[in-house]
Amino acid sequence: MNKSKLYKSISDDLNSKLHLLEDKPEETVDTTLKALWLTAAGLPVSAHRSKNLSIPDLSDKQVETLYKLINLRLNNTPLAHITKRQNFMGIELLSDKRALIPRKETEILGKKALEISKKISSEKGNIKVIDVCCGCGNLGVAIATYNADCTVYSTDLSHEAVELTRDNINFLNLNKRIHAKQGDLLSVFETDEFYEKTDLIICNPPYITSSKVQKMDSEIASNEPVLAFDGGMLGIKIIQKLVHEAPRFLKENGWLVFEVGSGQGQFIVQLCERSGAFSEIETDPDDSGIIRVISARK
Ligand SMILES: C[S@@+](CC[C@H](N)C(=O)[O-])C[C@H]1O[C@@H](n2cnc3c(N)ncnc32)[C@H](O)[C@@H]1O
Repeated sequence: MNKSKLYKSISDDLNSKLHLLEDKPEETVDTTLKALWLTAAGLPVSAHRSKNLSIPDLSDKQVETLYKLINLRLNNTPLAHITKRQNFMGIELLSDKRALIPRKETEILGKKALEISKKISSEKGNIKVIDVCCGCGNLGVAIATYNADCTVYSTDLSHEAVELTRDNINFLNLNKRIHAKQGDLLSVFETDEFYEKTDLIICNPPYITSSKVQKMDSEIASNEPVLAFDGGMLGIKIIQKLVHEAPRFLKENGWLVFEVGSGQGQFIVQLCERSGAFSEIETDPDDSGIIRVISARK
């Protein structure tokens, strides 16, 4: 079968069978098929990156591989775990079961943190950034990639996530600019090197209520770590701890920038205000006007 006939026949099949998730809007029938096609051809890419690439001819063996990959996808294996790639803020990252697959919505946080980091470094030169709850390392990697004037310290409670962060650091040749360590929240920074010496703390914490975590789509529940989602009974367990602990690591005028779940924004803004530790608080909404990022300046 020629290339376009094969593409059309698989695409028609996927149209009726592929289960797409709302929180991965970059995945469509087309981007899924293109990413799997390129992966079968030995050129693994994310759904996002596949958009602008054309598909090559496949050998018989590669067509066989493509069908195997499609089967995996139709059996609920996340696309990013098959291609081993996910794109975040234009950067191709390694992705697998060890950590959450970075979501497009987290780019609101990434862009805000980058903007703040650039503002601080333009005034002060090299700055110290902590990426806590780093998962696969996406946020720290994005800041280090787009702002040459920062050193990033990434941390996560999960050993496996920290391993994947290290793989991403190596993959992107950022070894001199990002350091990754395992630990509970900010515990690895409890030293004079970090107390009141950090310019920016970024965090995409787990913020889903434990009861909702139990009802998550099976594709997510069976393939992504529950630790990445579960924010306790009210969903804000880690956020409360973060708001309480971050100020002692921040310099005067340093920023804490973090993601919150839909509907949590106003309450968390009040939590920051009531803490008395911050002089300025900003919020950033998603496309529907819902607060998804809070930035609090010490
Ligand atoms: C929502 S995921 C975010 C991952 C990544 N930063 C991203 O944006 O895709 C939350 C991460 O927090 C980590 N985590 C959960 N509890 C933690 C804790 N007490 N201390 C540090 N990390 C924690 C999880 O392992 C997970 O990697």
